[in-house]
Amino acid sequence: MKIKTICCLGAGYVGGPTMAMIAAKCPKIQVTVCDFIQARIDAWNSDTLPVYEPGLKEVVESARGENLHFTTKIKPAIAAADLIFVCVGTPTKSYGIGAGRAADLRYIESAARLIAEVSDSDKIIVEKSTIPVKTASAIQTILSANNTSEATFQVLSNPEFLAEGTAVSDMENPDRILIGGEQTPEGQAALESLVEVYANWVPRDRIITTNLWSSELSKLVANAFLAQRISSINSISALCEATGADVDEVSRAIGYDSRIGPKFLKASVGFGGSCFQKDILNLVYLCESFGLPEAADYWRSVVTMNDWQKSRFVEKIVRTLFNTVSGKRIAILGFAFKKDTNDTRESAAINVCRDLIAENAQVIIYDPRVPLETIHRDLLEVGVSQNAINQNVKVVADPYQAAAGAHALATLTEWDEFRELDLPRVYDLMLKPAFFFDGRAILPLEALKKQGFEAFAIGKGR
Ligand code: NAD
Ligand code: UGA
Repeated sequence: MKIKTICCLGAGYVGGPTMAMIAAKCPKIQVTVCDFIQARIDAWNSDTLPVYEPGLKEVVESARGENLHFTTKIKPAIAAADLIFVCVGTPTKSYGIGAGRAADLRYIESAARLIAEVSDSDKIIVEKSTIPVKTASAIQTILSANNTSEATFQVLSNPEFLAEGTAVSDMENPDRILIGGEQTPEGQAALESLVEVYANWVPRDRIITTNLWSSELSKLVANAFLAQRISSINSISALCEATGADVDEVSRAIGYDSRIGPKFLKASVGFGGSCFQKDILNLVYLCESFGLPEAADYWRSVVTMNDWQKSRFVEKIVRTLFNTVSGKRIAILGFAFKKDTNDTRESAAINVCRDLIAENAQVIIYDPRVPLETIHRDLLEVGVSQNAINQNVKVVADPYQAAAGAHALATLTEWDEFRELDLPRVYDLMLKPAFFFDGRAILPLEALKKQGFEAFAIGKGR
């Protein structure tokens, strides 16, 4: 089938940017991105997009109104589509069987039911959401059981590998596009249709095709391996601090080994983001479900290490500040889970602030992209009371306001602007001794010490 019309269910961090890129690269294909959240759709249709990504606005504006459309009118968009991307959320289940580990597939299931209800022509359904292996077969069953017409459905798996903050360049020039399909003539024909779409801008040798289950599983495994590297280097950061080694030097030394490679070896206050933890827990649950407890334990330890990294950072602050931060002002620089995004999901900053507030500290937060409402919402979600937020949390408009009168300062996101901080000014603004905790090791420790700070950086020995 030559694809002429695409519909996408879910206008979030994945659906919006990926469909904008497809529309920009394939002017002959009409792309409609749907969501039932009116405010989200309105934002995609406005000058202030709901997702901040460098370069995204230009991509959206190049196609919006031409062959890229954002709408809450989901049913007509499904009915008109040759191919439907499913980009809905798949959060960790918070209730019932598998709570805290398994993926909550209710949005996937309702999307499948809606597609079956509305469709009266043949469709290719593409899982782009990250899902447990074998989900395609559940989707296929729902579609077949609820089909009220002669329409046929082919389900493909096409996981998304973009990282936030670099989404546009990741999509423009992907390491690979992965597409899994059924090993039947119809499955292979559907797969070829999707290959044709990507081939508009991705070299063919970067488009990998596999069977459905390999594709579904590879997405979880890719995220698990990436997160495992961070937990591995973070475990070593603690050893570096204890021994006098420097974790950046260790990363560089091992990264020169071409078998190890240099990427994803930056020690930090802990990885965040909506997916790493969720996808590892999902993998853990799968291992348990298939009777593989040792494999489950192995992957669970990646999350355990990450939790420890966050809590030991707070402990370091409290111990260094003479075992009490009660009533003390701690400047927090950065709340997003990484630079160049406004996304805060699972950000290490949330746990760090929660734990500091539990110690009765005053946290004065600055992030260039994250608004006050998001910070308040995130803290409420992890159990900080509204009363504590009112009394202990302040959100300010620049790093110097945060530093003013602070006992300590902590960098939690590696925003470029923090590398350019006017250190003498920060030092002058703070109470003395002025404690500096660099949770991202972005500033030279020696320079901080020379300035007069009592400075600590993740993974830097005494
Ligand atoms: P998100 O929460 O930002 O967006 C999901 C959207 O889907 C929401 O706006 C929701 O209202 C909408 N939705 C739910 N059911 C719907 C339906 N039936 N019809 C239309 N819209 C519906 O989530 P996200 O970050 O875009 O992630 C989506 C999926 O992609 C997840 O499975 C995630 O694991 C995966 N993923 C995310 C990233 C990332 O960087 N965020 C990267 C790769 C993969
Ligand atoms: C990650 C993967 O990189 C993407 O390939 C994947 O598509 C995506 O998850 C997903 O499935 O959602 P993302 O979470 O957006 O992308 O961002 P990353 O760059 O992977 O960073 C994740 C976290 O790890 C951040 O908190 C980052 O600061 C941290 N990190 C990353 C480190 O602490 N050290 C590093 O060396 C790299």
